[in-house]
Formats: sequence, structure tokens, C-alpha cells
Amino acid sequence: MIAIIVLSMSIQENNPQDIINYHESNVRGYCRQFPFIIHSSEYSTITDTDGNQYIDFFTGAGALNYGHNNPTIKQAMVEYLNSNGIIHALDMATEAKIAFIKSFVENILRPRDMADYKLQFTGPTGTNAVEAALKLARNNTKRTDIIAFHNGFHGVTLGSLAATSNPHFRNAAGIPLEHVFFFPYDNPDITVGESLNMLTNAFTTHIEERGKPAGTIVEVIQGEGGVNAARPEWITHLRKLTNQHDILLIVDDIQAGCGRSGTFFSFEESNIKPDIITLSKSISGSGLPMSLVLIKEQFDIWKPGEHNGTFRGNNLAFVSAKAAIDTFWSTSDFIDTLKQRIDVVTQALNEIIKLVPAELTHKGRGMMQGISFVNPDNAKIVAETCVNNGLIIERAGPRDEVIKLLAPLNISEDELQRGLSIIRSAIQEVLG
Ligand SMILES: Cc1ncc(COP(=O)(O)O)c(C=O)c1O
Repeated sequence: MIAIIVLSMSIQENNPQDIINYHESNVRGYCRQFPFIIHSSEYSTITDTDGNQYIDFFTGAGALNYGHNNPTIKQAMVEYLNSNGIIHALDMATEAKIAFIKSFVENILRPRDMADYKLQFTGPTGTNAVEAALKLARNNTKRTDIIAFHNGFHGVTLGSLAATSNPHFRNAAGIPLEHVFFFPYDNPDITVGESLNMLTNAFTTHIEERGKPAGTIVEVIQGEGGVNAARPEWITHLRKLTNQHDILLIVDDIQAGCGRSGTFFSFEESNIKPDIITLSKSISGSGLPMSLVLIKEQFDIWKPGEHNGTFRGNNLAFVSAKAAIDTFWSTSDFIDTLKQRIDVVTQALNEIIKLVPAELTHKGRGMMQGISFVNPDNAKIVAETCVNNGLIIERAGPRDEVIKLLAPLNISEDELQRGLSIIRSAIQEVLG
């Protein structure tokens, strides 16, 4: 016993990283990939406790689309804190919530002809928003089956996990994950026509064999699944089929939403209106936890408090979310800059792919792009080399074979170029 206490004390005293390694559960993940201790963060840069700076192409797995500690967003939060604004209020009516709703409706929903969607504030994680969306689809239709897609990721609580395809996460469930069926996602290696036919046939067969499903859940750009972007025609066709068969369409915009795809919602290019939309990650604009489900009015059949949660109303997150919407989405300036940044990334990645075309493939669109490697080991070494050279970047895909670029949407062109050239050099170094 004494030996254990002494060991634990010496570990803590000698190396701060050991405190994490010793005390934190084996489940820890990112601190293994990024083996430094973070001291501070500003805009697109993270600084560690040794003073090393890293350009951030990871952005909290898409939770920091506007970068770290944006001064305007931070100022709004500081003023709110200094005014003794209420922080925790479950789903009570607060000034902060009302101000957020007004800004979101006027700047996001109304210009997109979506002002009639209802807003549900769920518990603050993405997976809780997905749980709510799946319940709604099932309760509205009185059916149980959900259609999800190969390589889709929707969270790790049991309902969402059932719709998440990766066995690494599914195997941890401890119970059978049922009532979700996986269809092939759009595949750029076949023609659009072939892909649409596959989708039609998958629905026809499922309905013949099991009856109609309650809903379909889809990411327009799959993030964790390997930065796979569905073609707009495929998403439009999915909407057509779900309408035709009276199946609810849930778009999970938790990672691809809030501007990441190049438009606020990832489905705008497809010109569709989903029945339910889940948002989280960057909706608070500050990295604070917050989640939102948008529901077409006719499907908002909840009874009061039926899907609840103690942390539905994080008012500081409402304040930062409003500041983000007002700052970035009330004029077209941000979208114009965003388009330029997307062009820079697209052009750079296309150039990089040409270095080793047999090994590399360009993935994704918008500010959610990536490079897939034939050999996943190469993706791992390239990502590690990037980190060693001052760029934080993560991997995605069923074999972790894709390096995924999630730079802040408002990153300066200079930092963006520097980050891209770190990737280019790492690939040249690793692949020769
Ligand atoms: C598309 C998508 N849905 C749901 C989730 C789950 O969100 P959370 O990790 O906040 O539960 C994620 C997280 O990466 C995601 O990318």
C-alpha cells in the first residue's frame, strides 16, 4: 500500500504527463496521439507548456470552426460572466437563450427558408442530439428500423452507436446493437447513375423484406468514416426516396455543419430539406458543449420533458453561439473568405496527390478535405511527422488511412499555407 502511494506521488512530481498516463483510464485517446501538454490557444495556434507552437488542423474534431478564443466571442462571454448572467438553467427561459434563438432564426434559418423548424436543445453532446433524432423518427412513424450508411459515425451512446458502423466502437457496446441496417454510401468510383440505382435497390429490398424503416440517418460528408463526400445528386435522391416511402430523413450535421462544408448546412448544395437535423460541435462557436436538433414542425411530437437532460441549457454556450452567428453569419463576408480558403486547400491537396498518385487519393470537400493513403501505416507516420513539425492533424477512416484537414474556417491564408506545406513536406519525407 505504502509502495503504491509513494509510486503515485513520485509519478506526479516527476512528469506532469505521467499524471495523465497513471491516473486517466485506458480509454484516453488524443493525448496519446498528441503527446504534449497544452498551455494556451489562440486563433489557429496551440502552444504547449514548453513554448512549442502548433498550427491546428484538428480544431477539437470540428468543434472550433472559428478557431480558439476568438476575441469577439470571448468578449461576449466575459461580459456575460461579469454581469452574473445565469449559467445553468436546465431548459428554463433565459435572456441568453432567447437572444440565441432570435439570431439563429434570423441569420441561419430564415434566409434558407427554414424558419418553421423547431429547435430542441438536448444534452450538450452530439450523441445525445442523435439519440433524440432517432427517437423522434421512431415515435413519429411507429416503426423501429433505422437505415444508416457504411462508415457512418453518429456517436457512442447505445442508440447512436447502433447507427455507427466502425467495429472498434461497436464492439464496446456489451449488448447487441439492433434495429439499424447499413446501406452502401455514395461511392465516387462508380457513376452517379449506378450509385443512385444501388440506393434505390437497397430501399426496395429492405422494404420488401422487413417493411418500411422509420428513418434514415446520414452525414453529407462522413467525417470519422474517412472524409467521404456524397455527391449532391445522391443526397437529393436519398431525399426523393425517403419522401416517396414516407421515411424520415435525418441529416447528422454535427461535424459537417456550421460552415465546415462551405455552406452553413452541408446539404444546401443538394437543395433538400431534411426532416430532422442534428448540430453540435461548432454550434457554440467557442468549444463549449452545446447541441441542437432542428425538427420540421409536423414531426415535433415530443411531450414536455420526454427527452430531457440536466445540461440542456448551457447559457454561456448560448452567449458564445449567438456571438459566433452574429459575427460570421450575418453578412456574406465570411462565406466569401471561406470560399477562398477552400480553393487554397483544394488546389494544394490536388498538387500533393500528384506527388505519389499510386498511394494518395484526394477526399472530401469544403474545409473538410483529406488525403487517403493506400497503406494506413504511411498515414500514421505522415500524421506523426506533421505533429513533430508543428501541425496538429488527425486520421480517420475504417483503417485510419486518411489524414483529415479540419483547419479553422477563418484561418489566415499564411497559416493555412504553412500548415499545407508541413503536410507536403511530411509526405515527401515519408514517401520519398
Ligand atoms: C457526424 C457526427 N455525429 C455525432 C458525433 C458524436 O458527437 P459527440 O462526440 O459530441 O457525442 C460525432 C462526433 O465526432 C460526429 O462526427
